Amino acid sequence: MLASGGGSNLQALLDAIGRGDLAAEIVGVFSDRPTAPALLRVAEALRWSVDARMQPDRAQFDSTLAEAVAGVQPDWIICAGFMRILGHAFVERFRGRLVNIHPSLLPRHRGLRTHARAIAAGDTLHGASMHFVIPELDAGSVIAIVEMPILHHDSAPSLAARLLPREHVLIVAVAQLLAQGRLSEHDGKTHLDGHALFRPMRLDLHGTLTLPSQEPAA
Ligand code: GRF
Repeated sequence: MLASGGGSNLQALLDAIGRGDLAAEIVGVFSDRPTAPALLRVAEALRWSVDARMQPDRAQFDSTLAEAVAGVQPDWIICAGFMRILGHAFVERFRGRLVNIHPSLLPRHRGLRTHARAIAAGDTLHGASMHFVIPELDAGSVIAIVEMPILHHDSAPSLAARLLPREHVLIVAVAQLLAQGRLSEHDGKTHLDGHALFRPMRLDLHGTLTLPSQEPAA
């Protein structure tokens, strides 16, 4: 897991594992911020951090991080609130095993300040997306989304606060599919059980991922 912030998404995974709802193991938490609260959510032996600002350049940070990540031999690498842009070499090294949770309905609002930008754009729908990571920022194929309405009195903080618990359900549901070996990326498309998805899966109100083909026609 790669995280720079609070680590509530990491906690959601840890809780699901603890409840027996997610058959997975967190083998390391990696951060570019040694003070990131996310690190404190796991045992010291699983924590790794290097202050990215102390590294001579991005390539050096990326290769140090890559060596550390490779050292724990993860099946999957999940980024949640990891605030460094991962360079080309890092992404290519782990491509196909690297996923990210992004707080917008991609391809809308790549990058930062997604909640404020969704409101400013007059969007009526907002949400979060889990996607495979490619070198282009927030542009990899989307695995699954969770949607929610933007209310007329919403501010960026209120929207973020309502979205975060939904992100937690989304990340656990997608992690379950990852752990079961059911997801892969080929030719820039998400595959589930070996079949390309033409649209992302969607989290329903019960916290279940539904396939596009199971949705009623519009
Ligand atoms: C989440 O909103 C995630 O989508 C975004 O950063 C936030 C991280 O939250 N990229 P946390 O550190 O998991 O609490």
